Amino acid sequence: MSAAAVLCGVGSYLPPRVVTNDELAGRMDTTDEWIRSRTGIGRRHVADPGTATSDLAVEAGARALKSAGRDSADAVVVATMTPDHPCPATAPAVASRLGLTGAAAFDVGAVCSGFVYALAAATGLVSAGVARRVLVVGAEVNSTVLDPADRSTSVIFGDGAGAVVLRAGEPDEPGALGPFDLGSDGTGADHIMIAAGGSRQRGSDAPAGPGDAYMTMRGQEVFRHAVLRMAASSRSVLAEAGWDVADLDRVVSHQANQRIINQLADDLGVPRDRAVSNIERVGNTGAASIPVALADAVDRGGLDEGDRVLLTAFGGGLSWGSTLLRWPPLDGS
Ligand code: UT7
Repeated sequence: MSAAAVLCGVGSYLPPRVVTNDELAGRMDTTDEWIRSRTGIGRRHVADPGTATSDLAVEAGARALKSAGRDSADAVVVATMTPDHPCPATAPAVASRLGLTGAAAFDVGAVCSGFVYALAAATGLVSAGVARRVLVVGAEVNSTVLDPADRSTSVIFGDGAGAVVLRAGEPDEPGALGPFDLGSDGTGADHIMIAAGGSRQRGSDAPAGPGDAYMTMRGQEVFRHAVLRMAASSRSVLAEAGWDVADLDRVVSHQANQRIINQLADDLGVPRDRAVSNIERVGNTGAASIPVALADAVDRGGLDEGDRVLLTAFGGGLSWGSTLLRWPPLDGS
């Protein structure tokens, strides 16, 4: 029988600089009151100029490996929409800087769903016998793609990285991931987009416009899809696992907006106090948001051994994904 992928370590890293809502209100037409009431966000971490996604990913990866009590992995997967470069992928650099030169290493591009997609890809590597231990990182320097004149994106996104270590194990042991549900709807591709820098813009006669390297987002459309898709995807994995909603101890959803986190919990019928949230302190860290929230919950005693946990994400693409696990003991932490 093929091996299961078992979560055995978690870690995160946030760049030290904190930007408060009041600081943003000093730069653009917004207020602390608007941001808190419409998003639940109070502050976010922002990387210093010159800091790249791999810099955050290496720190988070090292912490996850330490939590797993290991210093090696034979594959590294990095989920990001802000890679260090369009080419090559960011993962090989992360692997080498962690002393893992020689490991299989690749990026996953599924925007804010990227971490769940990366977990699924890593699970596939383990169950196919390609890797016995995989470091899975979600990392973003979102500040590099934010239009300083766009208040709807500037107030919600932050920078950060989170990581987990998966090892080969048994399907019925705590930490085993699965089942997975993944999906996409490319008809909504322009709901969240960075127009420039890819073959579509470079292959056209039109040069990139001044704002085309920034992310644009249709907030209300994305909001609506986020709740619908995460709820449906969550129900799908629960049904496949034979778990009842009432069995869930924790829901760790993509941290995009506190109102989305709350509506998802309400739609699923999960008490809101079971929905893990750290968005007030970190904002929306894209592909990093789920592992950053997991590491934060571990640090604050918000995840107990044996807890039944739902992970669910939604993002650009449009894309979404969910999986389940029972929270494992973390020996190295
Ligand atoms: O992580 C990937 C997935 N992303 C998401 O899931 C994000 C989902 N969307 C959202 O979180 C929300 O749609 C936003 C936070 C982006 C916007 O909140 P909203 O409640 O949907 O606001 P809105 O776009 O409906 O705008 C309401 C009003 C508008 O003013 P008018 O036209 O009513 O006068 C906006 O111009 O709020 C205005 N507004 C702001 N006002 C103060 C928009 N952004 C701001 C702001 N400060 N930062």
